[in-house]
Amino acid sequence: MKILHNNKRIRVGRNDPCPCGSGLKYKKCCLGKKEAPFFGNLKETYFKRHGIRLKGPSDIEGIRKAGVVALSILDLVERKIRPGMTTDEINTLVHEFTIRCGAISAPLNYRGFPKSVCVSINEVICHGIPGDRVMKDGDIANVDVTPILDGYYADTSKTFFVGTPGPDAKKIVRVARESLRVGMEQIRPGNTVGDIGWAVQRYAEGEGCSVVREFVGHGVGLEFHEPPQIAHYGQKGQGVALVPGMVFTIEPMINLGEKELRILDDNWTAVTIDGSLSAQFEQTFVVTEDGFESLTPFDL
Ligand code: MF3
Ligand code: CO
Ligand code: CO
Repeated sequence: MKILHNNKRIRVGRNDPCPCGSGLKYKKCCLGKKEAPFFGNLKETYFKRHGIRLKGPSDIEGIRKAGVVALSILDLVERKIRPGMTTDEINTLVHEFTIRCGAISAPLNYRGFPKSVCVSINEVICHGIPGDRVMKDGDIANVDVTPILDGYYADTSKTFFVGTPGPDAKKIVRVARESLRVGMEQIRPGNTVGDIGWAVQRYAEGEGCSVVREFVGHGVGLEFHEPPQIAHYGQKGQGVALVPGMVFTIEPMINLGEKELRILDDNWTAVTIDGSLSAQFEQTFVVTEDGFESLTPFDL
């Protein structure tokens, strides 16, 4: 069957996940039911049923422009990062450059977060607060940026090598980058959020690494964190069906050792419980009629 989105028809096959988000196949769920909610307006249905705000062409253009700023911030950090620098120096670079681009840093004062960027070194999984920590040769550093440009949010991160990496650093960064790539490749109408999590988990665990459960990808664009949640583990065909106009991040946090974490006394910094290395890459994606577009594209 075909459903309307932005006045275009998209096809839902009998064996595709039902657009109502039940996790069942369309034929076992809403097929043939006249009262199926999405027969009207998909945008209204996704908001009512899932709290998901589907984006139209002008929203997507706005997020794409914020994405250009986000990538230029990461490029700047990549050029400047080196052993001997503190994480607070990264914060200053990001903060000042973001403002020069006419944007603002979403992390600053977000739920009390005190800085403009998250910088997460080695065993820090995410939400590292920039400060006095000095980066040393062989460290890995995830830098996660979210500029707001004209009201639109783009969320992206990379893990950089500081100086020359050892074998463990090389491995976890490779597996984290590849985890984002295999998750991304699941994005198309007819797949579900569960397909993304399933693909990431199967790949990362197959490499002998573990997937963090406590933090997930998320809808983004009009706010920092919107529905749905995008877990980086799970089962094929489960959860909300992907439809054109959905904008969300995939941002798997991959540990070299155990998946468990603890939060430091600053109430933000998440670290691996066993002290093992953790790495992460993140992009913001929009589901299109025939697949996806990254709004913060970089090579994976
Ligand atoms: N950028 C993070 C994410 O990918 C969120 C950071 S929240 C902050 O969702 F407050 F720590 F900045
Ligand atoms: Co994010
Ligand atoms: Co982020």
